[in-house]
Amino acid sequence: MRVTIGELKEMKQKGERIPMLTAYDYATAKLIDEADVPLILVGDSLGMVVLGYESTIPVTMEEMIHHTKAVVRGTKRALVVGDMPFMTYHTGTAEALHNAARFIQEGGAQAVKLEGGERVAEIVKRIVECGIPVMGHIGLTPQSVHQMGGFKVQGKTPEAAIRLLQDARALDEAGVFSIVLEAVPAPLSKLITEKVSVPTIGIGAGPGCDGQVQVISDLLGLFTDFVPKHAKQYAKLADLIRKAVSEYMAEVKEGTFPTSKQSYTMDESILAELARY
Ligand code: KIV
Repeated sequence: MRVTIGELKEMKQKGERIPMLTAYDYATAKLIDEADVPLILVGDSLGMVVLGYESTIPVTMEEMIHHTKAVVRGTKRALVVGDMPFMTYHTGTAEALHNAARFIQEGGAQAVKLEGGERVAEIVKRIVECGIPVMGHIGLTPQSVHQMGGFKVQGKTPEAAIRLLQDARALDEAGVFSIVLEAVPAPLSKLITEKVSVPTIGIGAGPGCDGQVQVISDLLGLFTDFVPKHAKQYAKLADLIRKAVSEYMAEVKEGTFPTSKQSYTMDESILAELARY
């Protein structure tokens, strides 16, 4: 049985912190699920850390559905959230509902996430009314990177802080089951967390949130283009991969790989027969 949105809400009420990670493929999702992480996000960060785009903006529904299916196949217990790509929930309610439904029907996810506060509250309400759990995402919303003028901390002025608080409340009222707070000053995240009824999940938002989310490639030290300030590398997989690849290359060149251990044998008599041809 997978984790439910009700259980996540109970975790907030009990003061139990909620760990969340992104995943983009079967093998990684399986390991994360086996570690009992309750929430997995198939983030559109996929575009940057897996597909090599400069931002999340080019990510398509097809790419997201493809990776969501893989993550769902790798998991049994975690609640899987599919991230709705740029401009797939802005052009009208019908299109937003259609795309949210694709994550659930085709992708096999249990929920969707979308970026924005008050301006998307009506869409959120409609998706929730259709029976699809929605996770909100405010603060630094990478799909609006050009409007924000870069990947910057949000909510630093009194006006911006009030707006974020209003956004969080609007999402809460619209029926989200949780809210991601990205790149928000820690005291403001703590305040928002106290003011909303649903769990807040922080990334670069300090320890006062109900949960934390990290991009798995940052956490594992796999993505080397840049390391965000909010990321902590719990492993250095890039170094391990570089070392393994150079050892493999050297052994192939020297002829020390493969050995008999990695090779298959065959009947000597068949070989002797072949020698006559
Ligand atoms: O796409 C993503 O990985 C995200 C998280 C950073 C919250 O939106």
